[in-house]
Amino acid sequence: MFHKDSSKLESMDPEIFGIIELERARQEDGLELIASENYTSPAVMQAQGSILTNKYAEGLPNKRYYGGCEFVDLAETLAIERVNKLFNSKFANVQAHSGSQANMGAYFSMLEYGDKVLGMSLSEGGHLTHGSAVNFSGKLFKFSSYGLNPETERLDYNMIRETALASRPKLIVAGASAYAREIDFKIFREIADEVGALLMVDMAHIAGLVAAGLHNSPIPYAHVTTSTTHKTLRGPRGGLILTNDEDLFKKLNSNIFPGIQGGPLEHVIAGKAVAFKEALDPTFVTYQKQVLANSKALAASLIDLGIGLVSGGTDNHLVLLKTDSVGLSGKDAEKALEHAGITCNKNMIPGDKRSPFITSGIRLGTPAITTRGLTANHMVILANWIHQALTNSKNEEVLKNIKNQVLELCRTFPVYK
Ligand SMILES: Cc1ncc(COP(=O)(O)O)c(C=O)c1O
Repeated sequence: MFHKDSSKLESMDPEIFGIIELERARQEDGLELIASENYTSPAVMQAQGSILTNKYAEGLPNKRYYGGCEFVDLAETLAIERVNKLFNSKFANVQAHSGSQANMGAYFSMLEYGDKVLGMSLSEGGHLTHGSAVNFSGKLFKFSSYGLNPETERLDYNMIRETALASRPKLIVAGASAYAREIDFKIFREIADEVGALLMVDMAHIAGLVAAGLHNSPIPYAHVTTSTTHKTLRGPRGGLILTNDEDLFKKLNSNIFPGIQGGPLEHVIAGKAVAFKEALDPTFVTYQKQVLANSKALAASLIDLGIGLVSGGTDNHLVLLKTDSVGLSGKDAEKALEHAGITCNKNMIPGDKRSPFITSGIRLGTPAITTRGLTANHMVILANWIHQALTNSKNEEVLKNIKNQVLELCRTFPVYK
């Protein structure tokens, strides 16, 4: 028997209910500029919060280690079919609990412990799982890294090629957490072929843009492509892996389960299936076009106000702002914006002299504010608020005044009505 109040979280557990309501208000009443976040749809959350959470389903659809999987098999099969259609890939594993798990499963399918890998440096835009010393990737494999051209602050494929020729990795990892320019996956594959390496693309940040045809796709070039499902793709929190190579696919499946995970989260997989269906709808392309238009408008307005941006602009959903250009550290800039009702994260910039806890930049992204309906005109206003907040970072009155205006805008564009 359940607790007598278990049908209503509010009466059963008022503490957790209250915390969720506080977080709901925070998400509604502030401008969310964290580039890796988004607001997923009520339909996705309904699937994710469903009774599918009760089911153990170790294995793959129609090849499970548990009975009673006939319905979760249907959901997982739909998720696989939809994601393959969305990205024009042949094979998909949708079980990775997160982007990091997807990357771990991918590495274990292509590498032995101690193998050499080349990935993007964390301080210039890569992700922890691309070889950071404090992450499993950096502990289990010998990573070397490529960064940005210091002049252009963009990837320099000649430099990457030279680094690859010098280090002769078994795997090259392309993809980033903080890079505002389009990545050329075709050239990455040419470099990989030249040095006899496999190519893995981690498209976690740009998956939504790729799905909408607004960023070149890694699928024709990468041996393995990994992603999260919760960033530009706007699904539930989770990961996925795609490949066109059947042998690699078998390895990927067995490295996810039983390699690094137990039972798949079938409720989350159902949420992924719903998100993929949403992403296959033409309105998703309209949404992603607006994400890009907003990002470019935000970048242009910030530049007009004299704020420095890494690489001087953006081709995707994010903008990297040099807080040095307004005399602040990234940490102080993040704090000032938070007081003004705008959430973002501090971020290293190329050649950063400060530590990752302080930094000289912040990362801004438009996926979440676009979901709530903001358009390019709002980006001009937003850039002005950002400029005002950063140039009055110690003036609580100015910050409070911006926060009130932010609140008014947020109330006009509620996320969940
Ligand atoms: C490029 C990239 N890969 C992987 C991940 C890891 O995803 P998760 O946080 O789901 O483990 C992230 C997360 O920010 C990311 O930016």
